[in-house]
Amino acid sequence: MGNCSTSPLVQPTSNVIESNEDHNHQDTPLTANIINQINTHTDAYLERAKLEFETKYAQSFSETAKIEDFQLQRTIGTGSFARVMLVKHDNHLLALKILKKQSIVEMNVVKHILCEKRILQAINCPFIVHLIYAFKDNAHVYLALEYVSGGEMFANLRKVVKYPEDQAQFYAAQIVLALEYLHYLNIIFRNIKPEDILFAADGYLKLTDFGFAKVTEDQTFTLCGTPEYMAPEIIVGRGHNKSVDYWALGILIYEMTTGSTPFAADDPIENYKKTLIGKFEIPDHFSFDLTDLVSKLLEVHPTKRYGCLKDGTKDIKNHNWFASIDWIAIREKRLQAPFIPQPGVEYYKNYKEIPSTSAETVMYSTEFDSF
Ligand SMILES: Nc1ncnc2c1ncn2[C@@H]1O[C@H](COP(=O)(O)OP(=O)(O)O)[C@@H](O)[C@H]1O
Ligand SMILES: [Mg+2]
Repeated sequence: MGNCSTSPLVQPTSNVIESNEDHNHQDTPLTANIINQINTHTDAYLERAKLEFETKYAQSFSETAKIEDFQLQRTIGTGSFARVMLVKHDNHLLALKILKKQSIVEMNVVKHILCEKRILQAINCPFIVHLIYAFKDNAHVYLALEYVSGGEMFANLRKVVKYPEDQAQFYAAQIVLALEYLHYLNIIFRNIKPEDILFAADGYLKLTDFGFAKVTEDQTFTLCGTPEYMAPEIIVGRGHNKSVDYWALGILIYEMTTGSTPFAADDPIENYKKTLIGKFEIPDHFSFDLTDLVSKLLEVHPTKRYGCLKDGTKDIKNHNWFASIDWIAIREKRLQAPFIPQPGVEYYKNYKEIPSTSAETVMYSTEFDSF
């Protein structure tokens, strides 16, 4: 639909980008120069990131701590597979993701957990949680992550209902940068949703939960994700790739700016049907540019979807809705965030604590050998 943005959209505020020798050339629009400079800066950053990732991905990282080193404080999150506890280690607060080997084997997701650990130990992005330790005992595997203290976007969004467009832009830009980074490394995330997007103390975002992430350049077939965020190509099961993350980005932008997802229904089957049709309501308060970007991301055919065209993520970064975003300043976290979590406030809800379990002997040693 409508007008595709071709105008450039970034402000020359970064002092990091190198000056372009061509600035006397009268015919070159200033904005085109700026875009070139930013692209060069971004390409160099991504190339370095890829080398770092490939080196670390090839190494193993295991048994870097043991459960006795941690003082368990309280549960701060649960998901489909894990319990996450706030813990203290050497006087530092960390988030300990605890997975029961038996449940993982019974749910047939061992491969996912091994991938999660292997990817987390190798990545390094300002908008993704850092893995600090990974280890196992007889009955569990553990991922000790940096503790992200400001709570889930899910809880924050339910409280405020929706974000003004400029606030949503600030958050969406960080998710775009995280996806640009992951996709450059050939990692599909497959799990964008507000429950796994956390607010750090500085008000910037951190993606957590790499349980569905996968390193692949090919099509992949596993049905995974969260129904409201699932792309049509996952639902039909004919194979999917990075395109699913751009679909989920479209859903996220819609949810951040309206308070609900575009294909929400009373049950998942209805939700899937609506997703496959791909028709959704555009609220009156949507700006022209927001409508245009969301429509280009929520494109049912992955080959026509923004993010999946020949210019990849650049189409999204150069879209008019992001006109006021200084991408380098965001990546370097030089801008003041619109919401800053208050120190001392508890942003994670209370969960019923369960007694910890143990086993006398090592369980599933073969399955978790590489963890
Ligand atoms: N590093 C972290 N800091 C704070 N809370 C976290 C962190 N990682 C996860 N959580 C919380 O725990 C919840 C469950 O963790 P997650 O990794 O999503 O588990 P699952 O794989 O079972 O879905 C998350 O939705 C989030 O609320
Ligand atoms: Mg999760």
